[in-house]
Amino acid sequence: MNSRTAGALCAITLAGMATAGAQTLPADVLVNPQTPNKTVWHFPKENSASPEERPHRRDLSKWTTLSYEDTRATPPPQRVSLDAPLAGDPARGRQIAMNTQQGNCWACHALPGDAQPGTAGPSLLGFAQRGYSDEKVYQQVFDARVQNPYTFMPPYGAFGTLTEQDIRDIVAFLQSIR
Ligand code: HEC
Repeated sequence: MNSRTAGALCAITLAGMATAGAQTLPADVLVNPQTPNKTVWHFPKENSASPEERPHRRDLSKWTTLSYEDTRATPPPQRVSLDAPLAGDPARGRQIAMNTQQGNCWACHALPGDAQPGTAGPSLLGFAQRGYSDEKVYQQVFDARVQNPYTFMPPYGAFGTLTEQDIRDIVAFLQSIR
């Protein structure tokens, strides 16, 4: 497992996002009101027994945590339709797909130009040849649970990880992979 895959799996563990506000967070969650986005992570400090608290790049407080006290609900699978035209930008879609802070799709999938492809999901090389409709691909990225209830691919749209336009751009990118 490479570090990208580990990061993606970690994100999935945290992925049972809830709509509840920060006030319902369990008491043992790492939150520091002084940091810009409130959620923090323990970072080991060299030659020190006490870790330092670093702010996350994103506010993760709306995601469920591994805490036994966290009883917030996971949003149910969300079926979506795609209004035509797709109007996606494949270059932007590629950037999002290959950015570890955004889509991070290459953690699990092989994509063109990826020297260290992920193998947890099917290769997306030559994807256009599969001939899927834009809507099917949009649904897969928006919420893969609709197509496979047991999937471990993150529901990017349903959990608000990516915007509708981000997903349109990703679909345009995937459909351009010959
Ligand atoms: C944690 C691993 C993981 C991540 C991250 C991930 N996927 Fe997937 N993906 C899978 C798995 C596993 C499948 C196979 C279907 C299933 O198990 O539901 C899949 C299936 C797919 C399929 C369907 C392929 C086919 O031929 O039917 C597409 C398209 C896809 N993923 C695109 C993406 C995109 C785009 C991203 C990033 C935005 C992404 N995936 C991120 C694991 C992942």
